[in-house]
Amino acid sequence: MDNFNDLENVKSYLLERLRGASSLDDISKIKIEFLGKKGFLGKLTSDIGKIPLEQRKNYGIRLNSLKEEIEAQIKVYEQNFKGDVDKSEYTDLYKSLPGRKPPVGHLNIITQAIEEIVEVFAPLGFNRVRYPEVDREYFVFDALNMPENHPARDEWETFFVDYPEDEKLGKLVITPHTSSGQVREMLKGNLPIRMLNISRCGRRQIDISHVPSFYQFEGLVVDENVSTANLIGVLDYFAKKFFGPDRKTRLRPYHFRFTEPSFEVDIDCGVCHGKGCKLCKEGWLELGGSGMVHPNVLRAGGIDPEKYTGFAFGWGVERAFMMKSGTKIDDIRYLFSNDLRFLEQF
Ligand code: DAH
Repeated sequence: MDNFNDLENVKSYLLERLRGASSLDDISKIKIEFLGKKGFLGKLTSDIGKIPLEQRKNYGIRLNSLKEEIEAQIKVYEQNFKGDVDKSEYTDLYKSLPGRKPPVGHLNIITQAIEEIVEVFAPLGFNRVRYPEVDREYFVFDALNMPENHPARDEWETFFVDYPEDEKLGKLVITPHTSSGQVREMLKGNLPIRMLNISRCGRRQIDISHVPSFYQFEGLVVDENVSTANLIGVLDYFAKKFFGPDRKTRLRPYHFRFTEPSFEVDIDCGVCHGKGCKLCKEGWLELGGSGMVHPNVLRAGGIDPEKYTGFAFGWGVERAFMMKSGTKIDDIRYLFSNDLRFLEQF
């Protein structure tokens, strides 16, 4: 009895005793042992005089609630042995209740999309690489044929990083596109190149189809005799594998400083199938840019443009995922809201 300085111990000892009981008789004995005048509770009550005055009130309150708990537990076991079990009062372990399943998650849908893109390009020999997500202006613009003060830079809504400028390579920026990996890949000096650069990009933009932080995947092929026909072949292959054989793509002439000729690749909208909706407006969604690598870019990468040619393309991962058949996502921001009701659907 002297061991029971802590009232909590009385409770756990009670449960231990109750579990060991095998008849209504046992329960009666336990009841006397705990609640009888000379029982644990009686002893604890008479001990109240030894408790320092300032703690006495608190002790009394705890003692009362302990008494109520003991009575309730004993009652449950009594009823159990009598055969009239009221499960709502069954506070002890309920052995026949099935366990709770731990929630099982899955890879985020953007990660799933990245893995799928890698798998689609792998059979063509594309090798996944990653380059800095915060890089120097040189790789982001200059090396891509966009010299300082060129207006084409404006389009990229750049986030500049507050960090000392490098004399040769310029300011530090959050890469607004994965094209910044092109010249880095060329400078590795391994030809031919079949690069797939997938990484996070940042731009000052937000609406239902643009977010400030997003992913792009960039393809780059450099080899002898690479032509626009090869580019179209690869785009077509990707569109059919990733979006499904029934989806349509189109190329529109465009202007990028780092490709010549340049194209914008569109695919018919997966939400409305070309009819026009909130997301696409006119039935087509822009997947991203592409083109034949500009000779100046090859030169920046230390490659002889007389001997080698190449093509490149750079598209948004989230955008591509939203354009897949059967994916009824009409606002890119759902992908970043971390709402399980949304994520669990994929
Ligand atoms: N970097 C461009 C953008 O983010 C997309 C792009 C256009 C990538 C043409 C390319 C390319 O590789 O050849 O808007």
